[in-house]
Amino acid sequence: MTELTPVTESTAIKADAPKTMAMPDAQTVTEVKHYTDRLFSFRCTRPGTMRFRSGEFVMIGLMGDPDPKTGKVKPLLRAYSIASPSWDEELEFYSIKVQDGPLTSKLQHIKVGDEIILRPKPVGTLVHDALLPGKRLWFFATGTGFAPFASLLREPQTYEDYDEVIITHTCREVGELTYGHDLIESLKTDELLNEVIGEGFWKKIKYYPTTTREESPKMGRITDLMRSGEAFADLGVPPLNKETDRAMICGNLAFNLELKAMLEDYGLEEGANSDPKHYVVEKAFLD
Ligand code: A2P
Repeated sequence: MTELTPVTESTAIKADAPKTMAMPDAQTVTEVKHYTDRLFSFRCTRPGTMRFRSGEFVMIGLMGDPDPKTGKVKPLLRAYSIASPSWDEELEFYSIKVQDGPLTSKLQHIKVGDEIILRPKPVGTLVHDALLPGKRLWFFATGTGFAPFASLLREPQTYEDYDEVIITHTCREVGELTYGHDLIESLKTDELLNEVIGEGFWKKIKYYPTTTREESPKMGRITDLMRSGEAFADLGVPPLNKETDRAMICGNLAFNLELKAMLEDYGLEEGANSDPKHYVVEKAFLD
């Protein structure tokens, strides 16, 4: 997930309005999985006409509570990275649960068959188009920042364009790594990727999960592990270099800023859709 700036629609709707009016852009939930008391993922139907590039985000949400004075309800929307790839017939999202968060306090209770609001206007910078050609692609994530990479890891272009794909994921606790771990395991038997890219394509992937607050085989923030050289030694690759390495960053704000500064020190420059370069970054603010 990335929950970016809150958006409150100016178009309020009466709470007793017909359902079709009360839920504009409604999509139906098809699957919900809870990972920890802080994390869950869900899938929903995809609007037939909606196209997006793997790595982009959309605004999703629910109707808010009725205004006590006017009785009107407004949609409560947040930016969420799409975790499913562009070719998938459904959409997947990976979300935090914030107990007093305006949206996720409600969203965490959704069930199969419920409706959510989805504005079908995808945008974002974590896309292949924003990077120049390279040999090694790095995905740097913390927490639910894994979501856009869950999309890109299932996107054939990722393996067509790069010889090596390295995904680092730093979380507080071991249970927070499950979604990413299971997704990467599932790639080994992914029919589309094995057929399109070739059997054993997944050997291009190097997965580097770390935890900071619970014991696991590799502990520490990825930033510290890179600074000390330990991450590069573990992965068997040299430090990043603008001739060969491309990177995408998605995590909490402090992480994004720290890693961005580190990549600049390695000589990489920030790219954009209109001006592809060596790395791109997305912010993931919490509810
Ligand atoms: P830490 O436990 O040392 O704060 P959160 O759940 O708060 O978004 O954090 C997800 C992970 O990101 C945690 O493991 C956290 O480590 C780590 N993290 C937070 N800030 C930074 C940073 N500036 N650089 C690297 N990792 C960070």
